Amino acid sequence: MVDIAVLVSGTGTNLKKIIERIDAGQCAARVVGVVSDRKAAALDFAQERSIPTVTVPLTKRDDRTRWNEQLATVVAEYRPEVVVLAGFMRVLGVPFLNRFPGRVINVHPSLLPAFPGKDAPAQAIEAGVRISGCTVHQVDEGVDTGAILAQAALSVRKGETSLELHARIQQLEHDLLPRVIDWVGRNELDLGDPRSGGWHETDHVLNYRPNYRLNHRLNHRG
Ligand code: GRF
Repeated sequence: MVDIAVLVSGTGTNLKKIIERIDAGQCAARVVGVVSDRKAAALDFAQERSIPTVTVPLTKRDDRTRWNEQLATVVAEYRPEVVVLAGFMRVLGVPFLNRFPGRVINVHPSLLPAFPGKDAPAQAIEAGVRISGCTVHQVDEGVDTGAILAQAALSVRKGETSLELHARIQQLEHDLLPRVIDWVGRNELDLGDPRSGGWHETDHVLNYRPNYRLNHRLNHRG
């Protein structure tokens, strides 16, 4: 079992899926707090579930280092073992990351290292790639550059818009992110410390094959 704090900025569909999996006994975790940098639908959902929430806003006038320190202090009060970024739209700096070395993970809607940063599905469509997907990775001070922990892929459909692609990628995220958290909670995946060799996985994780149902449907259409 792993205690997680979830950082959000938006609708929180990933947060909902994590909580659904926990409730179904399929994710060995406990959400100890939900933290946002802005007013977000995800906070309302957490509050309905009696999960403690807090907002640490960042305005243009705020000093970024100080905001990182404040955020780290607020998150640390929940005593999480792992910090999960689920649609958190800010880049975290060293003052935050140093408080949780190796223990901050993020889900990103592309197969990293391709298409880091904003609008990843639009970048993928623009580049004309045939395969895309999502990545769960450890967070470092770069933009989507940390160690890759797990990925799930799908075929990009001809003529698909970036919104349609993102919606299908999110279906993969909704399975992969709770799964990675579950691996951590079951000691199948040890996030380790980047300063001493990084993460380790068991055979159980190595043998995981993402669900290719979405691709099969496409293939049957020819
Ligand atoms: C997800 O697509 C995630 O990959 C990206 O932001 C989106 C968040 O969606 N980082 P939600 O708020 O969990 O619905």
